[in-house]
Amino acid sequence: MSEPNLRIPGPTPLPKSVQNAQARDMINHRGPEFAAMQAEIVDSLKSFLLTQNDVLLLTSSGTGGLEAAVANALSPGDSVLSVSIGYFGERFRTIAAIYGATIVPVDFPQGQAANVNQVADALRAHPEVKAVLVTHNETSTGVTNPLRELAEVVKAEGKLLVVDAISSAGCIPLETDAWGVDVLVSGSQKGWMAPPGLAFVAMSPAAWQASETARMPRFYFDLRKAKKAQTEGSTPWTPAISVYYALQEGLRILQEEGLERVLARHQRIADKTRKGVRDMGLKLFADPRYASNTVTSVLPPEGVNADDLRRQIKKQHNVVLAGAQGDLAGKVFRIGHLGYVSDKDISLALAAIRAELPVAAGR
Ligand SMILES: Cc1ncc(COP(=O)(O)O)c(C=O)c1O
Repeated sequence: MSEPNLRIPGPTPLPKSVQNAQARDMINHRGPEFAAMQAEIVDSLKSFLLTQNDVLLLTSSGTGGLEAAVANALSPGDSVLSVSIGYFGERFRTIAAIYGATIVPVDFPQGQAANVNQVADALRAHPEVKAVLVTHNETSTGVTNPLRELAEVVKAEGKLLVVDAISSAGCIPLETDAWGVDVLVSGSQKGWMAPPGLAFVAMSPAAWQASETARMPRFYFDLRKAKKAQTEGSTPWTPAISVYYALQEGLRILQEEGLERVLARHQRIADKTRKGVRDMGLKLFADPRYASNTVTSVLPPEGVNADDLRRQIKKQHNVVLAGAQGDLAGKVFRIGHLGYVSDKDISLALAAIRAELPVAAGR
């Protein structure tokens, strides 16, 4: 059987050269080869994230990066404005709450983006807030928040801006330094043509300053240790060396394409996905003004269970679509189009959906 057309929003398929890179021999993670590889990866990530800030690599999935962001910037009892438009916004909030932050929730319905004026009002009503948590791209609903505008209001109030950019960075326009993002988190298995296993955290000078006095407990995810080790060409703990190999190769491929063209490809393929879905008579779940360029959420026809449809498409066409989380399970399916994705991948996925819709609807 040929390889599946993996159309979930991460992990993504991998180019052959990335797959091969993972199979290389181990090296000493305290030696010069590792130091050179890490330096190359960090420089490349900085160029894609448009930042001069420190970028630390953590051996963990993206959630570890979110946990590091919280634990390094905050103290128990700090007030945190948590903007949530779905499942991953909730997760970020939960981490902050578990570490002892006092949460000021600002919620928006699933499928919608955050309203900038409402966030500004909440910030004015809560001058005690120290940091604002925002999910740039809410993968669960396929909605991209207007981060540039949100950042403007957060910065106008002088708060720390902490962003989950796990499923947006490297795919959707994001200017870390120009917009004033203090802590930014991404993960290797999303836009980076690499397997799961590494989180990236970019820390601004203001974030480092906050980290000096932050009192939340931290050990494995202590970014001060990560920074010190990185300066010495290493990591505090044993890194996922094979994932570094793969990420290095993924980033080389992305550098060859260039940031502008990578972003344009994601825009073009997302437009094609949305048009293809609409042309089948299906409805998009996300507010079209904020529909994501990395994942499209779709409502199946009346009476069709999204998960049954997905199973049928997998069985007949070897196209793997994503389900939905929480209360959207069975009601929405999602098409991932980030990282190593081509027009052809999407054409095949759309054809598979089109072929199975009548079957699923019992016609
Ligand atoms: C927006 C967002 N936040 C957080 C996560 C969690 O990342 P991980 O599964 O790598 O821990 C994901 C993963 O899908 C995500 O898309």
